[in-house]
Amino acid sequence: MPGTIVTVKDLVVRAQFDDDAPSLNELIKVGNGHDTELLVDHLEPGGIAFCLNVRSDLRIMKGMSVERTYKGIEIPIGDITIGRILSALGDPLDGQPAISGEGVKRKDIMKLPPKSTNFTVAKPEILETGIKVMDFFTPFVKGRKVGIIGGAGVGKTVLTMEMINNIARSGSGLSFFSGIGERIREGHELYVTLKENDLLKNTCMFFAQMNENPVQRALVGISATASAEYFRDEQGKDILFFADNMFRYIQARNELATILDQVPNEGGYEPTIFSDVKVLQDRLSSNENGSITSVQTIYVPADDVSDPAVQFIQHEMDSIIVLSRKVAEQGIRPAVDLNLTTSSLLTPEVVGERHYLLSVQVQSLLQKYESLKGIIAIIGENELSPADRSDYAKAKKLIDNFTQNMNVMTKHNGVPGDFFTREDTLKSIEEIVV
Ligand SMILES: Nc1ncnc2c1ncn2[C@@H]1O[C@H](COP(=O)(O)OP(=O)(O)O)[C@@H](O)[C@H]1O
Ligand SMILES: [Mg+2]
Repeated sequence: MPGTIVTVKDLVVRAQFDDDAPSLNELIKVGNGHDTELLVDHLEPGGIAFCLNVRSDLRIMKGMSVERTYKGIEIPIGDITIGRILSALGDPLDGQPAISGEGVKRKDIMKLPPKSTNFTVAKPEILETGIKVMDFFTPFVKGRKVGIIGGAGVGKTVLTMEMINNIARSGSGLSFFSGIGERIREGHELYVTLKENDLLKNTCMFFAQMNENPVQRALVGISATASAEYFRDEQGKDILFFADNMFRYIQARNELATILDQVPNEGGYEPTIFSDVKVLQDRLSSNENGSITSVQTIYVPADDVSDPAVQFIQHEMDSIIVLSRKVAEQGIRPAVDLNLTTSSLLTPEVVGERHYLLSVQVQSLLQKYESLKGIIAIIGENELSPADRSDYAKAKKLIDNFTQNMNVMTKHNGVPGDFFTREDTLKSIEEIVV
């Protein structure tokens, strides 16, 4: 028996089913002559299905019939999607033909892969980013997660693009890019850059930028993840997964919660969102088949790092690079706050004794620099002891040494970009501190 639409409010459609109610995350079709699809968000007693109008289709009215499809959102997966830009629903956004027809594999984006049972983490494998400050403070390790956190305009996207440019180029792996709720033109720029550098052949892209409705912004990271899982599990590939911006996923979910009249807790977020973020983060992981290494940007609303969403995503990361306005204002690029940037991977086991000991030395110099700055402001640099003065000078040199030009900025500012091997980076630091 088909159901009937009882209310339509913004993107939320409530449908009544007398029997055979649909399942969670199932698509149902509206009998409006256009087969408009609605996604079942949750079910309430009495056969009421709360559904989301995934394509913001306005041709839906109270009283129309709805029919089950017994399917969730299925997107095309596999080699045929490489070099393409897809929406959260698997539709092409690149002006090329749709990916459909016989032989095209499709996957339900909500379907979780089987849990690995006998997976043991292999010896850590460091991937070089060519970016000194990252390779030194937040080693990029296969199968792990790096967060790039900061307010608006501090350089999160530029740093992410530079990583894609530097790493995708060197590897034979596959890169994923998921654009979530950010500027529309950024998708276009990424496409052009990848094309110019002949990197499209190693990249899959999914976009739902700020012009898309919150349903699609909340789904796009999941679609990209489902596709990446396919390559990891069926083709045994090592995947690089870039998401810009993971905060927007939570924000989109929260917008939906508001439309659904769900009550936020005191932090301003509807609590179940965080368990869904956790599920997504757990899917972005490695197993016995292959690996997913991710870089996720985290927007900080109103520069307030205590925001619960920011805190939550941060805790899922192995390393956090903090970009700050204060540092950017000093003209330092990338604008990394060296004192707040942290990594659980900066250990002798992962980076080796030499790198580790050097990092301890550098961190202590940088801390000393912070406290000396306060003293100098009061008494002047000349009053410092010779040892303090020497450490102060070293720290200044170090900070300078961590600045570098980005390859992805060259076409904007004409300045050629730098690439440093980890060996280059370690040597340059040893020359300063020893
Ligand atoms: N490493 C960098 N080198 C030079 N300019 C940069 C750098 N990072 C950011 N910028 C400048 O700042 C602008 C905003 O950076 P963006 O990465 O888009 O910020 P966010 O993604 O954090 O909002 C860029 O368009 C660029 O002009
Ligand atoms: Mg950005």
